[in-house]
Amino acid sequence: MKISLQLKGTILGTAAGLAAIGIAFAAGQILQPKHVASGAAEELVVPPAGTPANAGYKLFMLNCAHCHGSDARGDEGPDLHGVTKSDQRITKIIQNGVKGEMPKFSAKLNDADTQALIAFIRTLGD
Ligand code: HEC
Repeated sequence: MKISLQLKGTILGTAAGLAAIGIAFAAGQILQPKHVASGAAEELVVPPAGTPANAGYKLFMLNCAHCHGSDARGDEGPDLHGVTKSDQRITKIIQNGVKGEMPKFSAKLNDADTQALIAFIRTLGD
């Protein structure tokens, strides 16, 4: 009888332990989307519609994101956050490209497009 009670206690204790693990796991699952959401908040802030930076954002998504990342955090090309190059240097890079690294866009993007892209790049923080 005594042993049986002890056994019962052990089983109950184990069950409680498993339940606690189960709850912790379930809570983890529930909390997971929240974490993803907070991660998403670190993604690109789309500039307000109608601004040059917004036009630049659209051009970036079409022409640059496949190399620089859709969050501009870099992929094949470098992270464009906190670029310290001057507007003039960036204009040259976009227009002429970087040999063997980045294509030139002089045939595809005009001055206004390039200025819009720079305006967009300048909205990126560090
Ligand atoms: C084929 C991939 C590719 C595409 C497409 C591309 N880039 Fe690049 N980009 C690169 C690479 C690689 C570098 C680094 C070049 C180097 O080593 O100097 C770079 C460098 C840059 C730099 C200089 C960054 C720095 O900190 O020095 C800027 C600005 C830039 N790209 C903007 C753009 C923009 C804007 C577009 C779209 C119009 C674009 N890139 C499209 C690959 C790409």
